[in-house]
Amino acid sequence: MEKYDFSRDFCGTDIEVPILGGRTSRYINFDNAASTPCLKPVWEALERFRDYYSSVHRGTGYKSLVSTEQYDMAHERALEFVGADPDYFTAIFVKNTSEAINKLARRVRLKKSDIVLVSGLEHHSNDLPWRNQCKVLFIEVDSSGHIIIDDYAAKLAKYKDKIKMVSISGASNVTGILPPIHQMAAMAHRYKIPITVDAAQLIPHRQLRMGEPQGKESIDFTVFSAHKMYAPFGIGVLIGPKRVFMEGAPDYTGGGTVNYVTRHEVQWTHLPDKEEAGSPNVFGAVALRAAIDYFHKVGYEKIASHERALTKHALERLAKIPHLEIYGPRDWDDSEDRLGVVAVNVKDIYHAKVAAILSYEHAIGVRNGCFCAHPYLLKLLKITKEESEKFHKQINRSYRAEIPGMVRLSFGLYNSIDEIDICADALENIHNHKGKYIINSRTGIYTVEGFEFPRFNV
Ligand SMILES: Cc1ncc(COP(=O)(O)O)c(C=O)c1O
Repeated sequence: MEKYDFSRDFCGTDIEVPILGGRTSRYINFDNAASTPCLKPVWEALERFRDYYSSVHRGTGYKSLVSTEQYDMAHERALEFVGADPDYFTAIFVKNTSEAINKLARRVRLKKSDIVLVSGLEHHSNDLPWRNQCKVLFIEVDSSGHIIIDDYAAKLAKYKDKIKMVSISGASNVTGILPPIHQMAAMAHRYKIPITVDAAQLIPHRQLRMGEPQGKESIDFTVFSAHKMYAPFGIGVLIGPKRVFMEGAPDYTGGGTVNYVTRHEVQWTHLPDKEEAGSPNVFGAVALRAAIDYFHKVGYEKIASHERALTKHALERLAKIPHLEIYGPRDWDDSEDRLGVVAVNVKDIYHAKVAAILSYEHAIGVRNGCFCAHPYLLKLLKITKEESEKFHKQINRSYRAEIPGMVRLSFGLYNSIDEIDICADALENIHNHKGKYIINSRTGIYTVEGFEFPRFNV
């Protein structure tokens, strides 16, 4: 059977970009964990909708009715996408996952003495918003980056009454590890503690089912971003039980959030409108719905199978490069599922320089640094307390030429084995780079002496 070429469903997968020496090369995007290119069906849906765009919820004209229907329908589709019962759950549209967790952390009404339990592999967006509201405790991770379930069990047992939420990534944006979220949900529920799954990385690659309301292994809250699922138009989703958001005032107030207002009284409106103050992002909602339709059409089985093949190939190729350090579960086999996120370091070249060489000489886009998961990186890199303090002081002095980090390759549905081979060849021969790379110690970014990328004008 002929293999399906997913890349033809995506915008911009055949773009030539400038590289060193005045030449061009086809761009390879291995930065999908950060954000993803637009699906063609998403773009086409936006074009079809464009001429009908109008105000939502308050207009009486035909276009307003169309826009309102599209916007409301996207909420229904978002709930259905994660198997959330629409009678019990609400889907609230926000900007992105970070905003969703900030909103949730404010809306669950925590006291400063309450505890939220997160894990040592979290993205800052599933850590700092909770720190703003209460005390955050971390479940330990082991040296390959997995959550230590025994430590989780011990912390639940020790702090049970004080823990008001467990909040865990569905997938790591550094190692691609998939924490056992349903097992962790069951463990939290034994103490009547709800669980949030940060599905920003999970949802573009593996199916998430929230499960029946209040079920033993069910997920109570989830959050995700459309820009990581090939619909980059500024929308994110927060899903949780309606009763939580029906209580009290919304965190943002204003137009659209009320039924009735006098100078002295406010009557809040229904969900999700109560939690979506102001004119909403209708284009984002249309894009999200079109992306969800695409996921349904292709099916998660095909998505996961293609991405597993990419990941397996990448790990096999990269493991053969002697000067490469691979982080996370490197002896990966099919017995453990993981995402196509591979973090590496070239043993004797600074991560920022490796990323620059890949870009300037091979047209490969990756991410380097700490990927908004500093505590996790410090653990995986075995950074001591003293070293950490030194880096802290360096940053205070605006010196960023030694800050620890890694180079991250993250694959999307449209990537191919050929692209991985090009990148593996580039990493294998990284010491034979052509340019003279100079670091700006204030920004930590490398450029090439005597070369500048031509400016791009939209
Ligand atoms: C696991 C995880 N959570 C949260 C976020 C934040 O997502 P956003 O930038 O869409 O707010 C990211 C982004 O990379 C992530 O990887």
